[in-house]
Amino acid sequence: MQYFHVKTDVLMERDLAAGVVHLLDKEGSRNVLVFADEHVAQHPAVAKMLSAAGEPGRKIELRSIPSGEPTTGLVNELAGIYRGRGLDMFVAIGGGSVLDLAKAVSALIENEGVIEDYQGTGRQLTAGVKKICVPTTAGTGCEISGAAVLINTRSAFKRGVVGPGVVPTYALLCAELGASLPVDLTVGCGMDAIVHAVESYVSPKANELTRLFSREAFLRLYEALPKVAEEPGNLQCREEMLLGSCLAGYAIDNASTGAAHGMSYGPGIHFHVPHGFAVAIFFPDTMEVNIRNGCHAYAELFRSVPGVRACGDDRQDALAFVRLMREYGPIVRYGKTLFDYGVKGGDIDLLAKASMQNTVAYATNPGPFTIEDSYAIYHKLLGV
Ligand SMILES: [Fe+2]
Repeated sequence: MQYFHVKTDVLMERDLAAGVVHLLDKEGSRNVLVFADEHVAQHPAVAKMLSAAGEPGRKIELRSIPSGEPTTGLVNELAGIYRGRGLDMFVAIGGGSVLDLAKAVSALIENEGVIEDYQGTGRQLTAGVKKICVPTTAGTGCEISGAAVLINTRSAFKRGVVGPGVVPTYALLCAELGASLPVDLTVGCGMDAIVHAVESYVSPKANELTRLFSREAFLRLYEALPKVAEEPGNLQCREEMLLGSCLAGYAIDNASTGAAHGMSYGPGIHFHVPHGFAVAIFFPDTMEVNIRNGCHAYAELFRSVPGVRACGDDRQDALAFVRLMREYGPIVRYGKTLFDYGVKGGDIDLLAKASMQNTVAYATNPGPFTIEDSYAIYHKLLGV
């Protein structure tokens, strides 16, 4: 039995105003709230979109959202403000943080209680206001995922809220907003999407359908990311990145991630290492652990990359894929290490233990991944 779910419609449109107006007209939306990242809110394309969408009989309001990961406290505060306002569409424009915030708020205002009632409790947000998610960074794939990840204000843990009310109605892939983003951010997010493609490909939940998405995502991202790093204003390559990231998003929504995502949890919580850089730092070493435990499916991905020389032996080609990924870092110039974020040898114990808390990611790793593996990777990366 092979299962694949798709819950979000996708529209690719380079012009933000044209894309948003098309979807608002299609839905007959009359009372619209826009959440935009505080930097993106200043973008001329957003002003143009607000003016184009604000026709007689349609109210559209912009709220600028400060940078930072979404917290349960902020979700509750915003839900308190917007509950009972008769909103019929949310438009979220920004990175994963703004999109997840809008997904959670748009769902909570149609449900009872506070967001903590739905975080890690098994309760689903069953209803929600419709939403259009416009990712400015190509990475998380959260524009199509049915989860919103939030930091719990009281206990500081990070966990998702889920349910039909959280699922985006539309993903609008619009390249024009990404061109002004810092290259560093673009590369970090791109590496996150590449790791999504690879980890979902080798996941025990993968099947022929999910692997179609994983493989296509990987090839598009692998090709486009170095070009975007070199030429950030190249909108065609940015569109490729957005599409690749979205395809990888569908792949992880169905097949999930693996150990590099598990390992990223500790440095993300304790040292605020951006998610994309954290997964990229751990990616090659976690693959080597998996290969040692008999996972050779990386070989199939390796052989699909144009121009590589495969030898035909699964284990050797899987190891060649790891080498390819180690060499890829400098090509796309992510070049970050744990030292760049202030991590030292004395932090290993804290981080190795924290990293094992992300049990969801390890559950879909292709083989066992132990705390000893985590310690060994930290010792290697920190040279102690
Ligand atoms: Fe990720």
